[in-house]
Amino acid sequence: MSDKYTRLVSHGLGKDLAKRLGLPQPVVLRRHEPGRPLIDGPVLVQGSTGGADELAATLLDWNLDVRRHAIPKEKLGAIILVLDELAHPGDLEKPVLTAAASLRDLAPNARVITMSRTAGSATEPATAAARQGVDGLLRSLAKELRAGATGNGILLADGARTTSPAALGALRFFISGRSAFVDGQFLTVSSGAGQLPDDVEKPLAGKVAVVTGAARGIGAAIARTLYRDGATLILVDIPAAGEHLAAVANEVHGTALQLDISRDDAGQRIIDHAAARHGRLDIMIHNAGITRDKLLANMDAGRWNSVLAVNIAAQLRINEALLASEHFRDSPRIVSVASTSGIAGNRGQTNYAASKAGVIGMVRATAALIGERGGSINAVAPGFIETEMTARIPFATREVARRLNSLQQGGRPGDVAEAIAFLASDAAGGISGEVLRVCGQNLVGA
Ligand code: NAI
Repeated sequence: MSDKYTRLVSHGLGKDLAKRLGLPQPVVLRRHEPGRPLIDGPVLVQGSTGGADELAATLLDWNLDVRRHAIPKEKLGAIILVLDELAHPGDLEKPVLTAAASLRDLAPNARVITMSRTAGSATEPATAAARQGVDGLLRSLAKELRAGATGNGILLADGARTTSPAALGALRFFISGRSAFVDGQFLTVSSGAGQLPDDVEKPLAGKVAVVTGAARGIGAAIARTLYRDGATLILVDIPAAGEHLAAVANEVHGTALQLDISRDDAGQRIIDHAAARHGRLDIMIHNAGITRDKLLANMDAGRWNSVLAVNIAAQLRINEALLASEHFRDSPRIVSVASTSGIAGNRGQTNYAASKAGVIGMVRATAALIGERGGSINAVAPGFIETEMTARIPFATREVARRLNSLQQGGRPGDVAEAIAFLASDAAGGISGEVLRVCGQNLVGA
């Protein structure tokens, strides 16, 4: 599961050799460590609007070293490009080319973050063109950045401002090491809902969370990350994984619930367990998932049905039970694990991709339903993640899959977990119905 190549070419002889041979040169990414600064180095807030001024003032309150103008040759931790008043594509030139002049001064593992408005809400064609232009700009820039630096964007819908809680929450996530493997992505802030945490190291303090498929892999990483962030945990997995489930539950001081999520009564069992122990449930993480790969020409009903049953039908049924429950009412949050296969497709995975695309459709439609009770639902779509599953892929195929993204490496289960923890927090309250890819900006497909 380890990526020895990345460590080998990160320094010394290996680095020189990789450079001379033109081989991929992934770097060891900066990841979140409790107690460490949000980012190393000054943050340049570029843009001349009122929204940019307000944002810069807020970031000063976070004790960041904020600049409104670049100082030549000074190494920067991040550039935040505020483009919240674009009316015409011509408006892009000045702020974008001013930011461009600072790109060579970015420190390793730096961040470039755009903050602009959603194109869909513009009625003027020129305004929509300018806003949509940011999409192409940011995604291309993310592919140009090197040395672990990433580029991501925040899109503000009509009801949101540069300093809305979820805009600040998303900014904090993108700036930090929590978003190490998120690259070339946008998050839309649809409203002013949400709340930044009192304690930034424990954003999930006081929350009761369920994680399915928690006995191993990404699910176990989600459990550890939510625990680190202060949540009280209920961990679900099939009875056959009971021993591993108990071990993870012990580690995170949570309870284990042995349950096949495809059972008809799974939702009620989860609610009963949460109600009996904690009197409520705040966060539902749908992580459990299976693959039964076959080309569609060779697909049988068993493979098709089992994947659809676990990966999407179970989530639909559990959500229905949760949304009807009086125990899931106080700003409830649901986060589902989808997959880039459900966005770009993958050979041999018609059943899996149908189920994961189904998760994305379900999340979009459920946003309105959970919004009625002040909650949110989102999906995270992982790309190539270093797990037991991907370790079994034959070497050559694995190397290709692993390197074909802007960061030239696979992500870690913890990278997926960080994105989930953010979307499960109240800081993301104004973000709903979204899909966040954790794929290092995978170059294949969509
Ligand atoms: P994994 O196979 O290591 O772990 C999945 C867990 O879910 C296992 O503990 C399993 O026992 C449990 N599970 C399976 N069926 C269940 C059921 N009916 N009821 C309760 N628990 C059940 O998988 P991994 O790699 O950790 O993946 C986790 C999620 O991430 C899945 O939804 C997967 O589709 C998704 N994903 C993984 C990627 C990767 O690169 N590993 C990439 C994209 C998505």
